Amino acid sequence: MITWGISANSHDAALAVFVNERLAFASHSERFSGNKNDPNLCDNLIAHVKNRWGSPNEVVWYEKPWAKTLRQYTAGQGLNLSSNNIKKYLKNYNIHAPIKTVWHHLSHAAAGYYTSTFNDACVVVIDAIGEFETLTFWHGNGDKLTQVYSQGYPDSLGLWYSAMTQRCRLKPNEEEYILMGMAAYGDPNRLYTRILRDFFSHDGEKLVELRQNLHRGCKDWAPDLTEDDIFDIAAATQAVYEYQFNRILSSAKNFISSDNLVLMGGCALNCSANSIAYRYFKNVWIMPNPGDAGSSVGAVLAHNRLRCYWENAYLGFTIMPSNSIDQIVDYLYNNHICGVAQGAAEFGPRALGNRSLLADPRGTTIKNRVNDIKKRQQFRPFAPVILEEVASDYFDICGASSDHRYMQFVSACRFPELFPAVIHKDGTSRVQTVPKDNSRIRQLLEAWYSLTGCPMLLNTSLNIKGKPMVNDIADAVNFETKYNTKVFT
Ligand SMILES: [Fe+2]
Repeated sequence: MITWGISANSHDAALAVFVNERLAFASHSERFSGNKNDPNLCDNLIAHVKNRWGSPNEVVWYEKPWAKTLRQYTAGQGLNLSSNNIKKYLKNYNIHAPIKTVWHHLSHAAAGYYTSTFNDACVVVIDAIGEFETLTFWHGNGDKLTQVYSQGYPDSLGLWYSAMTQRCRLKPNEEEYILMGMAAYGDPNRLYTRILRDFFSHDGEKLVELRQNLHRGCKDWAPDLTEDDIFDIAAATQAVYEYQFNRILSSAKNFISSDNLVLMGGCALNCSANSIAYRYFKNVWIMPNPGDAGSSVGAVLAHNRLRCYWENAYLGFTIMPSNSIDQIVDYLYNNHICGVAQGAAEFGPRALGNRSLLADPRGTTIKNRVNDIKKRQQFRPFAPVILEEVASDYFDICGASSDHRYMQFVSACRFPELFPAVIHKDGTSRVQTVPKDNSRIRQLLEAWYSLTGCPMLLNTSLNIKGKPMVNDIADAVNFETKYNTKVFT
């Protein structure tokens, strides 16, 4: 039985393949089309999957198209029945299998809960918008997921954060992580009260209540503020987000008294805020792809009430390694920076060692050199990847070291002066820990550690500016040629 889970026709499309009950493959469409955050499926992805596993017996779609149409209509976007005609949409890609649909927030909740190891958990989903829902709480118990709280459009913390992203001259639904990085460079207090007052009401019963519908953004908010104020807007936005996030988690804990939290939805990518979760919960699981793309997995799990053993996020296109670990480590030792494209590509927004640009995190010139290659803003931080068993010797880790395998939390570094290339302006790092497994990045780190005594490397995604992460060998060659930087495949 081949089941495809699909999240598409909105932003950042993805496809997951289940063989019986096993998750065999998952990838963002962008990796195969070359268009960053591609909202649609693409022929290369479908051809690859059909070639390997054949046509699906069933497709599970990650939301209810009719409800989305209704919400778009009530939001004044017109009545466009054809844009959400999923049968027709899939036919364009030669997909003719029977289609099942799952509610948007249930897909998120299931992607998180059913991939966790918990048998009882409080599940919190926060995103911009599903069909109508924007914030939901669920009780996960055994193989059951029961919704215990729901609120909806237009009151949405995610929609507000995206609107503020746009207000800071960034791309909404895409560059929220840049706003988060900018926050460390601004004053969080100067505009805090103004932003809280202008956007949020706390009069009603809802946990998040906006004073205005932000579906079309808030580009005109505070015209007195200029380009010079952008970093202060970012800092206050992040601070207000953390205030609201804290209120949400405190309330969720009152609904479901569990030690375990599953956090999902696009807002779960806010790694600066996520450690707040440990104030209320002992154990936290954020599925490595908590946004809508991860719902390609969640839709199938929800439809089948299926618990899924989560081994790791290496679920995409596979490049069989042709270079040895020793070759890579020797090169890094002598040249300090190189790309690696080996094994199965990561499913999720973060490079975790299989499609990474790696560098020695020591030394003051490395950050600028990597920034020159990546051609990105100097204020954006780079992250460390470290042997899991020594991570707490170098960073003040919240929760267990194993909670940090997917770069979902920030931690203060104990020796920032020793690793300047991976320390953000506020002294924190978005750490990735690597367990004792057989992954290439584990082998690479072990070899690097034994050669240098340094247990970590700088790790950033291997991609050409404005393009998705490298997927196949042709992409790796393109990167190498364009940026004159060695990539080991
Ligand atoms: Fe969502």
